[in-house]
Amino acid sequence: MMMTTAAEGVVVKFPSFKITNTNPTLTNRRFATVRFGSRRLSSSSSISVVSSVSSSIVNEDEPKLGPVSLGHSTRPHFPILHQEVNGSKLVYLDNAATSQKPTAVLKALQNYYEAYNSNVHRGIHFLSVKATNEYELARKKVATFINASESSEIVFTRNATEAINLVAYSWGLSNLTPEDEVILTIAEHHSAIVPWQVVAQKTGAILKYVSLTDDEVPDTVKLREMLSKKTKIVVIHHVSNMLASVLPIGEIMGWAHDVGAKVLVDACQSVPHMVVDVQSLNADFLVASSHKVGLLPYILGFCHAYYELLSVMPPFLGGGEMISDVFLDHSTYAEPPSRFEAGTPAIGEAIGLGAAIDYLSGIGMQKIHDYEVELSNYLYESLLSVPNIRIYGPKPSRTVGRAALCSFNVEDIHPTDIATFLDQQHGVAIRSGHHCAQPLHRYLGVNASARASLHFYNTKEDVDDFVRALKDTVSFFSSFK
Ligand SMILES: Cc1ncc(COP(=O)(O)O)c(C=O)c1O
Repeated sequence: MMMTTAAEGVVVKFPSFKITNTNPTLTNRRFATVRFGSRRLSSSSSISVVSSVSSSIVNEDEPKLGPVSLGHSTRPHFPILHQEVNGSKLVYLDNAATSQKPTAVLKALQNYYEAYNSNVHRGIHFLSVKATNEYELARKKVATFINASESSEIVFTRNATEAINLVAYSWGLSNLTPEDEVILTIAEHHSAIVPWQVVAQKTGAILKYVSLTDDEVPDTVKLREMLSKKTKIVVIHHVSNMLASVLPIGEIMGWAHDVGAKVLVDACQSVPHMVVDVQSLNADFLVASSHKVGLLPYILGFCHAYYELLSVMPPFLGGGEMISDVFLDHSTYAEPPSRFEAGTPAIGEAIGLGAAIDYLSGIGMQKIHDYEVELSNYLYESLLSVPNIRIYGPKPSRTVGRAALCSFNVEDIHPTDIATFLDQQHGVAIRSGHHCAQPLHRYLGVNASARASLHFYNTKEDVDDFVRALKDTVSFFSSFK
């Protein structure tokens, strides 16, 4: 592999297929058991339920919007939030990793397994027909949720990572040559980087990376300058899972299409938090993961692409369900989306996804976004009061709609120590590590950070509890200096 730092960013060329261990030094430091003074913190967590919400007060199926904040009115719908962890009230601030599930979604899953669990697209009996109808209804709900014109443009995958691999293997392998360039940013999630490295190794295509501006936002001016007739695809996130920055995807789409390039949008951190309209964005490919897409179950992601594009793409995985006819020496393939859904899909998860979309739509994505922007500013401003903190990404005053998450470090304290202390002494759940963004961390000169990420069921009180706990954590570790 040849890597050079070009004026416009980082250029990586794979002359031949070769696998190397690129990250021997970067590991996620983890302490199983840590002693803090006289208080012994064990790695096993104790959990007990603090309060369950009375159904006479709250209808758990329906979002209720009153004069209180969205966080206060929706919290009761999430049973998991109402418990103690390690002797403290749970404060869940790890929503960028996965969101919690409301009762409506849990009930939909339970109902599928109790009432009509069956395989789809292959049985003619009652249960199978019902399961097939509900599964396909879920696809329609996803299409409506992101304003796709056809539900056949929604391909269900195992997660967003698989959706990106689908595009890389199916579209990338058949369209890229050694003359071609793929443009990404250094802030992409590993799921958006590694599949294109694999495809670049196989095709000889060149990967070019856009770096950050002084405000710590991927530099879209440089991105525009890097685009040329050689660019075949731009692979870019909508909202950064570490920097909290929001990119002008509509504009990027226009620039890329002007040079004939396709665009793959990683919308994992935007679809759960704002209105995403694939027709107005005009993205060629847009992917997201259901467990992050606000409240939705695991083992499901999706890829949206225009039907004309999907219909000329070869299959990604072979097997049952994706075929039209199978002979001993060859097979013909089903039309999209079935062509890309080999084998038994995650049926219950898709049905749960449909229920989650109903729940989110009942609140309204614009309302969710407006509330989260308010929470985001509150989080950022509150964190500034913590001594020796360094928050990554743009200041709220330098950007529009910074996402409701903050990645940060506190001088001389390892982020995993911070996360461990917060969990074990205060019941606050945040993430520490590289957040699947090692190139970005390296660029910022660190190998790990702590990250607190919020969702609409969080409140300003959650932020206050977290910041109070963080100050206690910092003062504890500082006492050893
Ligand atoms: C921006 C972004 N892209 C992609 C992914 C990968 O999602 P999954 O692990 O569900 O495939 C994540 C998950 O953290 C993410 O935050």
